Amino acid sequence: MKNVSSVLEYHDRTKHRPSRYAASLGYMDWETQPNPFRRYENAPLIPLPFSEATPPYHLLFQPDSLPYAPLCIESLAQLLRYALGLAAIKSHGGSEWALRCNASSGNLHPSECYIIAPPLKGLSDSPTLSHYAPRKHALELLHTYREPIGEETLLIALSSVIWREAWKYGERCWRYCQLDAGHAAESIRISAAMLGWECSVLSIDTADIASLCGLDQLHRYDPNERESPDMLLQIRKGSFTLPKTPELLYNANRLSHSHHLWPILEIIDTATQGEYPRPVIMKESRHTPSPTKSSGEIVLKRRSAQMMDGLGITLEQFRQLLDASLFCRDASDVNLVIFVHRVEGLEKGLYAYIRDLKELLSLQNSMDSTFEWAEFTEGLYRLRSGDYRGAAQMVSCNQEIAKDGAFSFGMLCNFSSSLERHGAIGYKNLFHQCGMIGQMLYLEATSLGLSATGIGCFLDDEFHALLGLRDQKYQSLYHFTIGRAIVDTRITSRQPY
Ligand SMILES: Cc1cc2nc3c(=O)[nH]c(=O)nc-3n(C[C@H](O)[C@H](O)[C@H](O)COP(=O)(O)O)c2cc1C
Repeated sequence: MKNVSSVLEYHDRTKHRPSRYAASLGYMDWETQPNPFRRYENAPLIPLPFSEATPPYHLLFQPDSLPYAPLCIESLAQLLRYALGLAAIKSHGGSEWALRCNASSGNLHPSECYIIAPPLKGLSDSPTLSHYAPRKHALELLHTYREPIGEETLLIALSSVIWREAWKYGERCWRYCQLDAGHAAESIRISAAMLGWECSVLSIDTADIASLCGLDQLHRYDPNERESPDMLLQIRKGSFTLPKTPELLYNANRLSHSHHLWPILEIIDTATQGEYPRPVIMKESRHTPSPTKSSGEIVLKRRSAQMMDGLGITLEQFRQLLDASLFCRDASDVNLVIFVHRVEGLEKGLYAYIRDLKELLSLQNSMDSTFEWAEFTEGLYRLRSGDYRGAAQMVSCNQEIAKDGAFSFGMLCNFSSSLERHGAIGYKNLFHQCGMIGQMLYLEATSLGLSATGIGCFLDDEFHALLGLRDQKYQSLYHFTIGRAIVDTRITSRQPY
């Protein structure tokens, strides 16, 4: 219970309120800006090949429609390139920055990725532990194991360098790290689907993830730049045994020369370690996207909109986007409350999209008793008609993208029941679920010729008050907007590799 009380305290303390945002530096300290690329000094670097051919995006969502690729260095390279690789180098006004396939709050990229692979020609004759270096599209070989670990399976561990987000966002940043981890996990799942592979989140103690990747060998890291274990993914089927990782030879690079400390981050991070919740898998998705472009092209084209043009979308596009969220079958604790601004054939207003209909009655009982709950199609209910553009912008820390998109929404999570079921780590898992949905919707929007933006900056309790929520049974943990982007033509783009 102590850990749960730490969660409740952190959650409340890091809410943005109209009168006071969560504590942060309040300015950008460019002197201490962290290096976005983790490297392990002197670790052998194995460049990975590139492949251009990827299947049509819509086939990723049709079971058994793609061949099961063999596991080899080329397929592993493709998996990583379209999951966590660089998508473009942008430049403007003398500065240059890299963007990646996975979205990340503030483009700060706290998520790091470790791969435990069986023997692969071109990598090693033995099973290996390596770290993905996205700037180089290469693996840093950290260890070769003597014992077998299973021939068919890849394990991928995700961790967060919390400092990278703390640098800009202060105390609220732990939330963003977790959302980003969810984005990274979904990005891996989608890239795996391009190869016909499945990807599942394992229920395993986060301490075991740390020792597997050597993250608990604390002397290898600057004390303020340590990595916190997020989750372990199994790619492809097949049995495996977790190997024992000995003391590793390579030390992590230093990301900043000095740091600003936020003691609450250590407290929340420690409180939310433990056995990762076993996902509850939702029923088969209703999602059937129409034929579209190559999946690789869509992944590389995905970009966050910085401005939206205020134009509408069709009802079919709207339905397709909502249904795409069901592809995240293990994000079963998240329902969407939507500000509909401009969807042809749909009255403007406040709507709920109930992804898991088991939650319907309880949500109806918890929200404003005067809501209509007029069913539009399966899972979609109008709560109240009206123009919610002002409310959407206000709730989203006054960001105009929330009102200029065709619609924007909050991801309302089963908050208290997740904490009851899983303890404090349930909190972390809820953010992961939201991030997964976010990454999926970014890609679906891109495939429809639309754009999206994740919104981590929102006024928590203003949104809850709008819905008439009075307690912690449900809490919104991530917001999002989808519409048509205005592209800033001053920013130029070039190939990253
Ligand atoms: C968890 C999360 C929160 C975000 N919050 C905001 C936000 O509040 N406002 C905004 O304009 N962009 C937000 N973004 C978008 C990021 O700034 C964007 O992903 C990043 O700059 C990288 O650009 P890309 O998505 O085009 O790769 C968020 C993204 C994520 C993943």
